[in-house]
Amino acid sequence: MWNPRSRALDAALASSVTATLAAGDGLAMPPGTPPLWDGQRPTNQAEWIELGRRVFFAFPLRAEVFMEFALPRPELQAAVGVEHTPAGDFPGLVLFDDVDGRTRVGITCAVCHTTVEDGRLIIGAARRKFDYGKLRIAYHNETHEPVEAELMRRMATWGPGRADVTEDLDEDPVAIPDLWGLRDQSVLTQAGTIRHIGPAALAIRQETQLLHANHQRIRPPRELAWALAMYLYSLAPPPRESPVTPEVTRGRALFDDTCRKCHDNAAYGGEPVPAARVGTDRALADGGARGTGTYRPAPLLRIFAAGPYFHHGAVPTLEDVLSPERLQPGYTRSPLRPGPVPGHEYGTDLSADDRAALVAFLKTL
Ligand code: HEC
Ligand code: HEC
Repeated sequence: MWNPRSRALDAALASSVTATLAAGDGLAMPPGTPPLWDGQRPTNQAEWIELGRRVFFAFPLRAEVFMEFALPRPELQAAVGVEHTPAGDFPGLVLFDDVDGRTRVGITCAVCHTTVEDGRLIIGAARRKFDYGKLRIAYHNETHEPVEAELMRRMATWGPGRADVTEDLDEDPVAIPDLWGLRDQSVLTQAGTIRHIGPAALAIRQETQLLHANHQRIRPPRELAWALAMYLYSLAPPPRESPVTPEVTRGRALFDDTCRKCHDNAAYGGEPVPAARVGTDRALADGGARGTGTYRPAPLLRIFAAGPYFHHGAVPTLEDVLSPERLQPGYTRSPLRPGPVPGHEYGTDLSADDRAALVAFLKTL
């Protein structure tokens, strides 16, 4: 069981680590740093959640030479979405003792599943500016570390907020999802690869999927995986006021008529739908490694902030999701490529007024 010494890169630690890296020196753990977990099993739900929070922010998935490269390069950070808070904390980055005994910068869940919005840390929101492919390309271009040309080409196609998390040869980068309303979902991931039958399913799949990144060398203690699941369940969008106007009320009725049959759970997600029926790009659903032939109706909490939309992040706004123009050859607003974005035609046949009402309602979720 692996319970490493690991510390989140808060402002003070980040600046000393950055100085060390800039000088080309070896990293060292601040003396007296204890292991991530003190070995005490939590005794109530609040303690489980607190431990899970520590795992989310500070349990290293793996050492990341790319982040070590980015830390002394603020312009690169800004260009690829390696974010810090106004105080200078880098959510998702840690300094830790790796399995081989070396002290390294590592990444945690929070590097993809938190974001800084107007100076505020939003925990659970996808980091849609994070361009992991671009970061890695910058690293290889400057260091001349060898890399396959084919991988370089593919990484350039990921773009911000997307990563190819499968190990197969399919070209199926997927948008990082928000982590709201997980408890209500019967399946997890965009293609619904995980039957979500309870917290253990959530904890264990996270562990196996993401720690293979660490080449199966390590397993976290069971308690940490459970605590992480409890923490994920506790995540919710930050509260906000959304006035219920007559237009919103009309939009809600339209939603109940047109959308609710699929987006039917408490977080407005639902049961997986055959990819052929929803009609969006099939590469991920049919992928060799994790293809299920389906996509899940994504939860719609805080959907106003979740663009670009769909599993591939091909549609920039909610207006575009519902617009018939998106389906036409002349469509040019996709961040991925010019041309139509087919599929999920629901609502595109409504009048412009009805679509506006529907969007007004969606923006209240
Ligand atoms: C490099 C970025 C990255 C990191 C780091 C990362 N994730 Fe994710 N996560 C993703 C992507 C991309 C997906 C979508 C995968 C898919 O749909 O196939 C995802 C999906 C998920 C889902 C499913 C959500 C849903 O709506 O179905 C959960 C839960 C999750 N991640 C939790 C975690 C946890 C916990 C950690 C840390 C142990 C973590 N992730 C680390 C990128 C990341
Ligand atoms: C037949 C089932 C079905 C119906 C009906 C349906 N949806 Fe969906 N919805 C899905 C599926 C499946 C996805 C995921 C598709 C993908 O990512 O390729 C999705 C995705 C979405 C997304 C993107 C979410 C994100 O995080 O990117 C939005 C927004 C959305 N639906 C809104 C609506 C609205 C509004 C309606 C009604 C006008 C509606 N849906 C009707 C199945 C449905």
